[in-house]
Amino acid sequence: MIDFKQTIIETIAKATNMEEQEIKNYIEVPKDMKNGDYAFPCFRLAKVLKKAPSLIAEELKAKIQSYKVDGIEQIEKIEIVGGYLNFFVNKNSIIKQVINEIAQNEEYGKSKIGEGKTVVIDYSSPNIAKPFHIGHLKTTVIGGALYNIYSYLGYNVIGVNHLGDYGTQFGKLIEGYKKWGAEYDLSTNAIDKLAEIYKRINILCKEDEKVLEKCRKDFKLLEQGDEYCTKIWNQFKDLSIKEFQKIYDLLGSKFDSWNGEAFYADKTQEVIDILQKTGKLKESEGAKIIDLSDEGIEAPCIICKSNGSTIYATRDLAAILYRSRTYDYDKCIYVTSYEQNLHFKQIFAVAKLLGIDKKYVDGLEHVPYGFVRLTTGRMSTREGNFIKVEDLLNDTINEAKKVIEQKNPDLENKDEVAKKVGIGAVIFNDLSTARIKDEVFDINSMLSFQGETGPYVQYTYVRTKSIVEKVGGVPEFDKIEANLLQDEYSQKVINLIYNFEDVLKQVVDKNEPCYLSRYLIDLAKAYSVFYNENRIICEDENLQNARVFLTYAVGKVLKIGASLLGIQMPDKM
Ligand code: ARG
Repeated sequence: MIDFKQTIIETIAKATNMEEQEIKNYIEVPKDMKNGDYAFPCFRLAKVLKKAPSLIAEELKAKIQSYKVDGIEQIEKIEIVGGYLNFFVNKNSIIKQVINEIAQNEEYGKSKIGEGKTVVIDYSSPNIAKPFHIGHLKTTVIGGALYNIYSYLGYNVIGVNHLGDYGTQFGKLIEGYKKWGAEYDLSTNAIDKLAEIYKRINILCKEDEKVLEKCRKDFKLLEQGDEYCTKIWNQFKDLSIKEFQKIYDLLGSKFDSWNGEAFYADKTQEVIDILQKTGKLKESEGAKIIDLSDEGIEAPCIICKSNGSTIYATRDLAAILYRSRTYDYDKCIYVTSYEQNLHFKQIFAVAKLLGIDKKYVDGLEHVPYGFVRLTTGRMSTREGNFIKVEDLLNDTINEAKKVIEQKNPDLENKDEVAKKVGIGAVIFNDLSTARIKDEVFDINSMLSFQGETGPYVQYTYVRTKSIVEKVGGVPEFDKIEANLLQDEYSQKVINLIYNFEDVLKQVVDKNEPCYLSRYLIDLAKAYSVFYNENRIICEDENLQNARVFLTYAVGKVLKIGASLLGIQMPDKM
């Protein structure tokens, strides 16, 4: 397809001598089509050029050259409104491009912009023998969506589940297990029981220094590869993964690597050696630290505790070394809650000292997200943290089933549909607002078919499908007359469809899947308006064909977009 946005960017660049990237950052897609298809805010240049925005706009407009394809002008009109240059693209041209592309490209919006580039996405990463909490659900969903979208844009993506499976707490758990393991049947709800054992041993450790000593010894033994300790630690790990897997199965999550913290246990010494050689590793109260005050980071990064053991950060540094060597990444992103902002600032600063190529340091990026607050019924905020995510997902599926039962009692495969709708609702809810914003987890509102929800997007899709079925299938694309889709409602829909690929690019630019979820809502809404304003099934065969084709196009884009977010579409609901 012709990339109109890029064309406009290039024309402005030619006329102003500005960098294309800068123009790209400024250029907007106006909400109201009266303001054109693309808008350039000239007031952004007012300071530099020391001129009034309207004057800049006048001058710029005069310099912009015509852009023709097959002898037809592609930019029909440029208007100046309130310091903006508004560009109107040739309507027929956009419509034709969209129709052809939708008809001929099964993977609409897919691109190769990422070809040759590798992205490591570190996401989900729960801690073994501890509950998978609602925050882990969020990283799993965000990371999964990013995984799909990067892949769709041609990047080579490696999804890593950096399990929290190492640390002195496992010494305690081993000791607790030795004492009370026989009291628990770990074949069901293993994580809850391990968490309880952990709680009990912690209490004992506080009372009795000797027990604590034993725990430390167990951890040492684990570090040294002692057979018994390794065996039960492996058991903790397997049992935990088995429980996590139930959640991953519901969500459809997949990982290319499960190398967690333990994997790096024997790789931290190299980190310490490298840091030692830089002369920056300092002793402080027995611990080894890197002072980061020069970097504007108040708290130093601890590399070794006073008892000699390494910490979370040390293993993350070893992981950076390993990933740079193994994957030769262009980007390595970490999806965690913003509570870990300081941690990532610290390790990214220390990474500069590891002697790896600058590109690997520059490629590190923390992708933080906000808190999730639970509201409904027994999932009130306080107990929220103790609610099992698996139960939460199943509750949502059950609620979805009730809604379906009510709205469409004769539907076949109700369970299958309820699963798609329930899980779709959860995923969409996690992705529907900017990552960093705190979020509310409210089953009822996220299941609403009318709100800005996953089920609303699914419902719209189902509607498009049934319309296409009603007329006996998708009309042939080469018979569609583009000029029949020039009314404002059709045009709005077409423009959105046209912009799909650009939206995907924005998602990876900012690692912000909500651009796509917002887009799907906009598209579904625009389609609703189109549907209400235009009779789709009508006397005029050509008109009907054009409108049905557009309906089909909407369904196709909604389905592709949703699946990139990790949401499956039911055929009926
Ligand atoms: N296990 C950590 C947690 O549950 C998240 C790990 C994130 N990844 C990393 N490489 N530090 O909070």
